[in-house]
Amino acid sequence: MERKEFLSLVGVSVGAIILQSCLSGCSNSSDPTPTNNNNGNTGGTGGTGGTTTGLTGNNTISKGAINFTLDLTSTSFADLKTDGKAIVTGDVIVARTKAGNYIAVAKACTHQGTTVDFQADNNRFNCSNHGSNFDLTGKVINGPAASPLTQFSTSFDSAKNTLKVS
Ligand code: FES
Repeated sequence: MERKEFLSLVGVSVGAIILQSCLSGCSNSSDPTPTNNNNGNTGGTGGTGGTTTGLTGNNTISKGAINFTLDLTSTSFADLKTDGKAIVTGDVIVARTKAGNYIAVAKACTHQGTTVDFQADNNRFNCSNHGSNFDLTGKVINGPAASPLTQFSTSFDSAKNTLKVS
């Protein structure tokens, strides 16, 4: 074997070894298998809009007139037994003011639809998206929202511990 031929063979062998080393070192065979965290969860049903325990009636504007009753003994609506608290059900935010009065308005800010928050200390509903504020009747205090939140009437039945919103 001549020197040139020998060096050529060695070069090919060394190159093959380096290539094999790189391929095995670069492979992901030692990487942990990605974990599937969905645990068989298919993403849920997205809510059916009418199965909340303690709610009877319609709380969805697209389904017709708002007209529902909340059972305040239900854990879903327990917050409404406390002054200054609020709950959202369907398209409506129902609040109990610090004075103990029940109020209800459409939850969607009339600017771009963000769900408003009840701020009991300020007696208002606030939209955190662009800062609109609405009073307890849904009237605009400051924009950018230009239209009021739809107000619904409330009627509390102390004997049954239920709140009707319509
Ligand atoms: S979406 Fe409420 S202020 Fe813009």
